[in-house]
Amino acid sequence: MRLAGRLLSAVLLLGSHVACVPVETLEIEARELQLQLQLELETPPPTLNELAPVEEDDDPSAFTIPSRYESTVLGRRLLGLSKTGILTTVFPENITSDRVPAGVANTPIGLPDYIASCEEPSGNPTLLALTVSTSTQNALAGSNVSLTLSWWDQYAQLTHHQPWSAANLPRLNLVGYLEKITDDEVKSEDIAACFTKAHGDSVLWLPGKKWAAHKGLWVRLVVREIYWIGGFGDRNFIGWFDRDEWAAVKVDEWLAARLPGEK
Ligand SMILES: *[C@@H]1O[C@H](CO)[C@@H](O)[C@H](O)[C@H]1NC(C)=O
Ligand SMILES: *[C@@H]1O[C@H](CO)[C@@H](O)[C@H](O)[C@H]1NC(C)=O
Repeated sequence: MRLAGRLLSAVLLLGSHVACVPVETLEIEARELQLQLQLELETPPPTLNELAPVEEDDDPSAFTIPSRYESTVLGRRLLGLSKTGILTTVFPENITSDRVPAGVANTPIGLPDYIASCEEPSGNPTLLALTVSTSTQNALAGSNVSLTLSWWDQYAQLTHHQPWSAANLPRLNLVGYLEKITDDEVKSEDIAACFTKAHGDSVLWLPGKKWAAHKGLWVRLVVREIYWIGGFGDRNFIGWFDRDEWAAVKVDEWLAARLPGEK
C-alpha cells in the first residue's frame, strides 16, 4: 500500500510539472513512469553479482543456491555466534505508564539487546530481561517479540574490511515470545555462567543478586517462526524456515558450517 502510495505521488508530481502538456501525453508518461517505478521496486537489479569481486572458490558454474535446510544450519550458526540483536516488541494498546507517550500505543519498537544461545541445541536464544526495560515491559504486557540478527558487524570484525555489499550478507529474524526460565533450569543449565561468558559486564545485573543494579530475570525467546535473508536472492535462500528443522539442528552441524568470510 505504501509503495502504491509512493507511485501515486510520483505520478502526481510528474503531473504537476507538465501541467501544460496535452492530457494524453501526460497519461502515457505517467503510465511509463509507473511501469518503470514498479520494475524498480519489484525486480532486484540483475547485475549486482556481476559487480561482485570474484572470490577464488566462487566458480559460478559450480554454484547452487543453498537449500532451506543448509540455510537453516547457517541461521543456527548465526544465532550461536551472535552476542547482540535487535529485540522488537509492540507497545500495549493501553499505555498506563506516564513515562511512555500515549502516541506509541500498538507500535513496534526495536531495541538492541544482549543475547546468548545458552540453551543449545534448542535454537531458543537466552536473554536477561531487566524489568525496567521497555522491551520487558511490553513483553510483560503481552507483546510477542522478534529478534533480528545480522552478520554485518561480525563479518567486518572477522575480515577487517567492510563487505562490498552488506545486502549480500545473512540476516535472520526469530519470531516468538519471551518465557521465564525457571530457577531450576537456570541452575541445571548454568545459564549465568554461559551468559556472562558472552557478556562479562552483565555480572553487574545478574538476577537474584543483592547488589544487582537492576532487577532482572532470565528469559528464553521461544521461537515460533524464522525468517532468513541469506543475501542476494539469486544465490541465497530467502524465506521462512521450517520450525521443526530449526529446532532439530545439532550443535555439531552448525559448528561445522561457515558463514561468509569465515575460514
Ligand atoms: C484498554 O482500556 C479500555 C478502557 O479504557 C478497556 O475497555 C480495554 O479493555 C483496555 N484494553 C486492554 C487490552 O487492556
Ligand atoms: C502472539 O502471537 C500468537 C501467534 O503466534 C497470537 O495468537 C497472539 O494473539 C499474539 N499475541 C498478541 C498480543 O498479539
